[in-house]
Amino acid sequence: MPRPIEMSRRTVLAGALLAGFPGGARARAAQAQPASGLDLPDIPDLPLERRDGVASGRLPVERVETEMAGLPVTILGYGGRFPGPLIRLRHDETLAIAFENRLAEPTNLHTHGLAVSPRGDADNPFRHVAPGATAAYRIPLKGDPLNGGLFWYHPHLHGLQASQQFSGLAGPIVVDGPNDPGPLLGPHDERVIVLKDFRFAGREVALHRPLDWLMGLEGDLPLVNGALRPVLRARERRLRLRLVNASNARFWRIAAEDGRALTIIAEDGHTLEAPQPARAVTLAPAERLDVVLDLDGGEALTLLDVPVPRRGGRPRATAPLMRVVPPGGGRAKPDPLPARLTSRPAFDRSDIAERRRVDLSFFYINGRPMHGHHDAPMFRPRFGTREIWEIRNVDTMDHPFHLHTWPFRLLARNGAAVAGEPWRDTISLGPGETAEIGIDFSGEWGRSVFHCHIVEHAAKGMMAVLEVTR
Ligand code: C2O
Ligand code: CU
Ligand code: CU
Repeated sequence: MPRPIEMSRRTVLAGALLAGFPGGARARAAQAQPASGLDLPDIPDLPLERRDGVASGRLPVERVETEMAGLPVTILGYGGRFPGPLIRLRHDETLAIAFENRLAEPTNLHTHGLAVSPRGDADNPFRHVAPGATAAYRIPLKGDPLNGGLFWYHPHLHGLQASQQFSGLAGPIVVDGPNDPGPLLGPHDERVIVLKDFRFAGREVALHRPLDWLMGLEGDLPLVNGALRPVLRARERRLRLRLVNASNARFWRIAAEDGRALTIIAEDGHTLEAPQPARAVTLAPAERLDVVLDLDGGEALTLLDVPVPRRGGRPRATAPLMRVVPPGGGRAKPDPLPARLTSRPAFDRSDIAERRRVDLSFFYINGRPMHGHHDAPMFRPRFGTREIWEIRNVDTMDHPFHLHTWPFRLLARNGAAVAGEPWRDTISLGPGETAEIGIDFSGEWGRSVFHCHIVEHAAKGMMAVLEVTR
């Protein structure tokens, strides 16, 4: 198969998207994968009981017998399903979860992207929840506006995360906060969409072969909320798609078949200053995008699953991802989006306490592999200080860098300033690329981690401990 041409990260030409579509890819896909065309499944909310600012619920993790793409399969699931139930909170609440491990192996729970405590029974990636045990998680969101937005949860036990996450352990978190752009969008239909690939061998999830630890494990079923090529029946002419990439290693790129814009309004849960229209949107593993898609006429629209060239990625052709059917009736065209969604001051570059460099190369961070949870911290930032880190991909493979607990500002990419210095918690770098990020180590302190979010790479050592000390 010819190697796809390199395209810019967020934008590609519609013409290039259509290469290989709809002929061969569609026919091949149809043969291999029987069940498609079902309505896009909605993700039910995790039932939470609310009292005195605490939202309490129970989240079992267990083996689940279900059907995916028409096949009877056994996966791992939170709350008995995939994707895991939607945890919906307000930014001034405390999440209290009774986390029941019904697996035959240990696991734990990470709330990816939230600026919350990494200590004790909160979002502590070093916790170990034994098989059969129930662990109490208590995670105060503290009214921090940074905690408003789209986040997600997944296991984080070093060594077991890759198989557990690939088997189905992932679910979305939506936090209503003061910067939510929703009220600026006018009437719209909001959908939370978890993108994740699966691969099965018979009824069981097919797990890693040796090379998958190098390349990152990708499946052959690109599922949307667990469904293959579903149909989204829009209730309004404006859609807000809240996309989560819950794949171990698959990069997702989505474009409309007719080349119309998908407009990004938030990245990693954080509202952008200005809407950013794109011909295609790309999500590296763990990234989230809130995207507005405006519909017109009565014609259904196909969203495409566009291959993202990365070394080690599973070769594939452009294929249909989902069909979008506009609502009936002569409803008015959506108003244009406002030019500004939010505003934020520039990152404060006075008194930078430390400048650090983070070199990503295969299985190492700064030339060192992580051995386990007891590793000495690579960095010890001081609580209440600001730092600038230069992240460099000195490797030949893409690596999405992720920092827990402290969302950061993306200041520059490849030496060029990034407009608006967007907030991120994950930033993917191709071979030779660099990013400059600004981190404010206030808000939380304690031991946490940063790592590559190709989960196999993290498992093999592309992770490091940091400790923010008071
Ligand atoms: Cu998605 Cu260390 O996390
Ligand atoms: Cu994380
Ligand atoms: Cu990596």
